[in-house]
Amino acid sequence: MKALVLSGGAGTRLRPFSYSMPKQLIPIMNKPVLVYALENIVELGVTDIAVIVGDWAPAIEEALGDGSSLGARITYIQQDKPLGLAHCVELARPFLGDDDFVMYLGDNMLPQGIGEIAEEFRVQRPAAQVVVCKVPDPRAFGVAELDADGAVTALVEKPQQPRSDLALIGVYFFTSAIHESVAAIEPSARGELEITDAIQWLVTQGADVRAGEYDGYWKDTGQADDVLECNRRLLGELATRIDGDVDGTSELIGPVVIEPGARVVRSRIVGPVIIGAGTLVEDSRIGPDASIGSDCVLRATQLADSIVMAGASITQVPGLHGSLIGRSARVGPSDHAEAHHRLMVGDHTRVEVAA
Ligand code: G1P
Repeated sequence: MKALVLSGGAGTRLRPFSYSMPKQLIPIMNKPVLVYALENIVELGVTDIAVIVGDWAPAIEEALGDGSSLGARITYIQQDKPLGLAHCVELARPFLGDDDFVMYLGDNMLPQGIGEIAEEFRVQRPAAQVVVCKVPDPRAFGVAELDADGAVTALVEKPQQPRSDLALIGVYFFTSAIHESVAAIEPSARGELEITDAIQWLVTQGADVRAGEYDGYWKDTGQADDVLECNRRLLGELATRIDGDVDGTSELIGPVVIEPGARVVRSRIVGPVIIGAGTLVEDSRIGPDASIGSDCVLRATQLADSIVMAGASITQVPGLHGSLIGRSARVGPSDHAEAHHRLMVGDHTRVEVAA
């Protein structure tokens, strides 16, 4: 089996981050979302992986390299325009040949892994197998209707009146039968070749299309609040590991990871918290639920339920909560000692101040 990972999307719902980095590289517990996806694939024993990239190709290639650090062999395939998920399958045809493959959307988090559903596919080997999860409001997703045996009877992309509560959650298993249907479908109203339509085409042809229900935690990390929720959720499983330095006046409570070269000075850390390599935390109160990337500086700051990305510095900010701070961002007092706020924030940035 091979794998096709889609990492081309623009991620406009994650602005302003998507102006400066691909949404798939947003770190959750200090690891990019996309790396979690690749780890789940490698865990299946699948190591021949194509990653579809768009405008952010250089950043994604820099983060993943040739895949050897993950035990995989990565082939990059460029998609010049976001013409749909089925279009990605078409682009990857030379790589995929006639092999079975798992297709995985690179911004979806399934921390419990996809081993059981992959096994179902291997044993039953239907023409296609989608992965579904019950959601309260399926209108933002592809929706599957199943018969009593778990066979898919219909698939609809983002229906206004969903006929089931089973959302497609970004992982699909295919045999080579999908290539014929990708070639047969037309672009949708939004101008994209929809994978949902391609699978529906198989259903209409009478092919065996199944759904595996995922009952673990799942999150499409398309929006900032989803990213923070997922961060909290993963931190909930954190196990303490102290590889950096913690001075005698600091206090660590609950599960805390201090990466090598990180220093904690005169501070109180309330886990779950992870502090990245080379980061300095001084005179601060951090946590719970905070992921601090590498090479950050946090001074005289209180911060909880947040993600701080690599190289950021935060000084004298007492009540940070629910925040996403981008790479090398600086938050702190004015250099000019004036009694007003000075903001230099990019387009679509959100700044919420305590009233
Ligand atoms: C895509 C798929 C949709 C699926 C969703 C899961 O939607 O088209 O069927 O439910 O991913 O994340 P998109 O996120 O591209 O709008």
